Amino acid sequence: MNLSTHIQSIDLKSIFMNASGVYCTTQNELQTLSNAKSIGAVVSKSATKDPRLGNPLPRYFETPLGSINSMGLPNEGYEYYARYADFHQKNCPNVPYIVSVAGLYLQDNLQIMSELSQIDGISAIELNLSCPNIPNKSLIAYDYQQTQKALDLVSKRCTKPLGLKLPPYFDVVDFERYARLFSQYDLAFITSINSIPNGLIVDFETETVAIKPKNGLGGLGGAYIKPTTLANIHLFYELMDKKVAIIGCGGIENGQDVFEHILCGASAVQIGTQLMKEGIGVFERLATELQAIMKQKNYDSIGDFKGKLKTIV
Ligand code: DHB
Repeated sequence: MNLSTHIQSIDLKSIFMNASGVYCTTQNELQTLSNAKSIGAVVSKSATKDPRLGNPLPRYFETPLGSINSMGLPNEGYEYYARYADFHQKNCPNVPYIVSVAGLYLQDNLQIMSELSQIDGISAIELNLSCPNIPNKSLIAYDYQQTQKALDLVSKRCTKPLGLKLPPYFDVVDFERYARLFSQYDLAFITSINSIPNGLIVDFETETVAIKPKNGLGGLGGAYIKPTTLANIHLFYELMDKKVAIIGCGGIENGQDVFEHILCGASAVQIGTQLMKEGIGVFERLATELQAIMKQKNYDSIGDFKGKLKTIV
């Protein structure tokens, strides 16, 4: 059964990608990921201008319902992810390579965009406007003016297909005004959602926060966040007139979760917490489970049910 899809003009042989941040920081990880069965594209760790070690440990913690992280953008710097593109293009030409960018300053993002735009082996750029884990930095995509300014300038510099990694929105008024804003640019995709910011998980036995940075605050992922993800996918799909591809990200553990993301309007999906838990075999398992559901429901391709969520009349 056919799990192919496309993101604007980019063809993907399968709907599955990693979520940026998981198993994509070193060239070795990116290479291993690119060879995983049933993967359609790979996304790098969010790159800053200079390499970073990130926040102090422990900075990631799992529970049966998901995860909390406050990694603090540990990454090798954008030049490293640019260098990997050449190798990737030669070895995995059929798996698009998307570089995630999260400069600490707008000037950094502009420089990074200009330089990455020159590199052949990069298929698209995912601009991360939603990292919640840098102490004393606000989350850009919750500040309308800052987001507008970033988009105005970045869209002029970036000549690759450009996507946005968004945080969850909660208020319908916000969905409407951000959808109007995003519709003004020629975006290839939006990825909804990044982790839900500033959650807190308690270790009951020790009566202590689960992670060290920001006194325990961090981004939530996994099953905790699936309903929020589905609402974000569905609302942006409808409000942007089904014109911009949505990459669903948040709370996928099984084939039914993937099906629900697509039903709400996703053209592709990213796997974060479950990839951390299970390793790169997750993509093939999810593909098999989704195909079984499609067979049972008599669907041949993703387009047969994408965005076809029904309401109650
Ligand atoms: C980090 C976490 C995120 O959720 C994100 O989008 C980018 C970076 C981090 O802490 O490294």
